[in-house]
Amino acid sequence: MTFSTATENKLQEIWARYPEGRKRSAVIPMLMYAQDEVGQVTSELVAEVAKRCEVTPLQVEEVVGYYSMLNKERMGKHHVQICTNIACLLMGGEELWNHATKRLGIGHKQVTADGLISLEEVECAGACSWAPCVVDGYEYHHHATIEKLDRLLDSIQKVN
Ligand code: FES
Repeated sequence: MTFSTATENKLQEIWARYPEGRKRSAVIPMLMYAQDEVGQVTSELVAEVAKRCEVTPLQVEEVVGYYSMLNKERMGKHHVQICTNIACLLMGGEELWNHATKRLGIGHKQVTADGLISLEEVECAGACSWAPCVVDGYEYHHHATIEKLDRLLDSIQKVN
């Protein structure tokens, strides 16, 4: 399987961080960067990461099945995650989620018809102190409000 030069360089850099016998530790970051390029975790991608990290495809599949940020289905160009776990729930996370689903007309792990945005309701994005939290790709938006969420969605829809 081949990747763009930029992604291949990232994968090589990750692979080089881990000593012989410990290459399996590169499975998650490799999957994430490769998923960014491919758009989803395909069986071909699983096989490629397994080969590079010296593990079996089944071991990679187990990782993919456990971590919610790894998607076997194609997500949107912008994957927007909204946390509704307790800290965010108390600070308006559920209102944000309901607003986003209504505005975009899609639900959990669904994609807009144009393929631009997908939504995911998440169980803690690790930013509880800045609740409620919205994540667009790797970009965190703390202390989110409906107005801030609308500005984010407006900017995504305007640029693309
Ligand atoms: S509960 Fe929302 S980031 Fe932790």
